[in-house]
Amino acid sequence: MMKVLITGGSGQLGGELQRTQPPGSTVFAPGRGQLDISDRPAVTAHVRRTRPDVVINAAAYTSVDRAEQNAEDALRVNAGGAENVALAAMEAGARLIHVSTDYVFDGRSASPYATDHPLQPVNKYGESKAEGERRVMTATRDQAVIVRTAWLYAATGANFVNTMLRLFRGQESVNVVSDQIGSPTWARGLARSLWRFAATPGLGGRFHWTDDGECSWHEFSLAIHDEAFALGMLPRRCRILPITTCDWPTPAPRPAYSVLDKRTTWRALGMKAPHWRAALREMLQDVNDNAPK
Ligand SMILES: NC(=O)c1ccc[n+]([C@@H]2O[C@H](COP(=O)([O-])OP(=O)(O)OC[C@H]3O[C@@H](n4cnc5c(N)ncnc54)[C@H](OP(=O)(O)O)[C@@H]3O)[C@@H](O)[C@H]2O)c1
Repeated sequence: MMKVLITGGSGQLGGELQRTQPPGSTVFAPGRGQLDISDRPAVTAHVRRTRPDVVINAAAYTSVDRAEQNAEDALRVNAGGAENVALAAMEAGARLIHVSTDYVFDGRSASPYATDHPLQPVNKYGESKAEGERRVMTATRDQAVIVRTAWLYAATGANFVNTMLRLFRGQESVNVVSDQIGSPTWARGLARSLWRFAATPGLGGRFHWTDDGECSWHEFSLAIHDEAFALGMLPRRCRILPITTCDWPTPAPRPAYSVLDKRTTWRALGMKAPHWRAALREMLQDVNDNAPK
């Protein structure tokens, strides 16, 4: 029976990992209140006590804009915390699956980023995650699995889908950036892929997992609107206007293009992600089916 420790258990990915837990596995999924990954002695003690076969590091400082002002906090969690988890996993002989981000890349590519593309983040969050990747690989002597993902959403959590649904319900029109391109990814599909990694010994190195296809935030918002409206989740239609990044300044710069090349991952796992629009439809259907009537 596989014993698995999931850090960041109360995050959107942590929640979906628990929802998709394989039958027969035992899962510990402490939230930050139960296990702070930046506390090395606490991480070591937790792993010694629970003796997992696999550790999935889903904990992270994920506030991209706040990280610009709080770069040290982001680094403490995303680099120092990741290193603590990696060292504890190594000591226990557990395999480590560490989650990283498309924001480790510069966004200037015109085609999907390969897993070995040089890391050149454009903001502090990306820098902290890139440093986390390096420390994880050093601590595990390159044995860890690092899975980069992007544009994550789930039914609960602070994410683009939930923000858009709230705005569509409260406003007549919404402006959305149309010159940043990426791949929206349902956290549930990512969780399933991480369980496949957990069940596939012998894999190590850097991998990419997002839903298939690409779009701008504006195209993503149109799809959220149309799918939600078709399901009766919106009281009326809302107008969605494209704007540019210059029209919507944020504290942290964003990569203009952050699509990841998934081909080696799909081959290694023997499974492929659905198109982002199909995953979005399934997620909204699931939210609608489970909404209080
Ligand atoms: N969200 C995205 O669009 C996106 C895109 C690319 C990659 N990723 C990566 O995907 C992974 C999962 O992200 P997510 O979307 O599930 O993020 P999330 O919903 O923000 O969850 C992150 C979790 O980590 C916890 N956490 C923060 N600091 C911690 C600490 N010091 N010790 C232990 N737990 C701590 C948070 O707890 P609190 O809520 O209590 O702070 C939260 O439960 C992360 O590695 C992230 O970098 C996310």
